[in-house]
Amino acid sequence: MTDPANPLGLAGFAFCEFTSPDPDTLASQFEQMGFVAAHRHPTKQVTRYVQGRINLLLNREPTGQAADFRALHGPSASGMAFRVADPQSAYDHALAEGATAVDAAAGTLGEGSFPIEGIGGSYLYLVKAGADLYADWEEVPGWREAAEQNNVGLDILDHLTHNVRRGEMRTWSSFYGRLFGFEEQKFFDIKGKATGLFSQAMIAPDLAIRIPLNESKDETSQIEEFIREYNGEGIQHLALTTDDIFETVEKLRARGVRLQDTIETYYELVDKRVPGHGEDLERLKRNRILIDGNVGDEGILLQIFTENMVGPIFFEIIQRKGNQGFGNGNFQALFESIELDQIRRGVVKVEA
Ligand SMILES: [Fe+2]
Repeated sequence: MTDPANPLGLAGFAFCEFTSPDPDTLASQFEQMGFVAAHRHPTKQVTRYVQGRINLLLNREPTGQAADFRALHGPSASGMAFRVADPQSAYDHALAEGATAVDAAAGTLGEGSFPIEGIGGSYLYLVKAGADLYADWEEVPGWREAAEQNNVGLDILDHLTHNVRRGEMRTWSSFYGRLFGFEEQKFFDIKGKATGLFSQAMIAPDLAIRIPLNESKDETSQIEEFIREYNGEGIQHLALTTDDIFETVEKLRARGVRLQDTIETYYELVDKRVPGHGEDLERLKRNRILIDGNVGDEGILLQIFTENMVGPIFFEIIQRKGNQGFGNGNFQALFESIELDQIRRGVVKVEA
């Protein structure tokens, strides 16, 4: 049965694929973040890392799409996958709506898979919901025990963002709209001291695939800096959920994962911004966790961002307590803290 509200039967992100000229560093970063190697591709140098219900692939192939992508972008996210009810018909629909076909054989899932061209030349794979993608991959012995030992409580890939070139916001919102029926959620207009960005949150009909799109307003903002460093448009951050952000963040800190700092004064305003939040303010402050929303209809969310980890790509740790937003109030705070860092580094100049 086809659900008219979700005709392609979208069912969440299946995986995000990374590649790097220094894959060992990337592998140890995944492990530091609580992932473990679970499966290896039978013929390709691709490893599946798992934590909770999150799948990250690490592609070390010497040739093919990921190799080309890595040559162009350095450490980068070379692909991602959506789960759909029927990959062939979702693929046909995408092509009919203007998607660009790519060489399946050059991609991780190989001949017979259904990739289309995604952001910045990455591959966007359409895979069968409910099927075991790794059924014929080699299992890493003892990975389940290792996963139990190493996890930090991360569970779901909640959303991932794209940084797009100036003037390309509509290209990408209509790409996801036409091909997959995504709708526009929140629009943000963020202003810093000297730079700014627009952000358009897109949500798929399954309500599980969420992709905020960021576009710079000027030539020096952090979005433009990303595009320069990354040598193109791409995935800026991946947000991973936890049921206990305090525990997750404390474990990550103990392992040396570097998290973005927040100005001290942020915490003086928390009780006023989110009255009755019921969180341990001292522990929040000690860990530099951000809070947003309200205790009423909207609900609360807690979040924190890592420093750049895979080239300019970083991760977000998020705990949703009813709130389905992206931390509207924190968006501005985060933008300002990165801009402050850009000003310190001399990338952004502020008129005296
Ligand atoms: Fe986010």
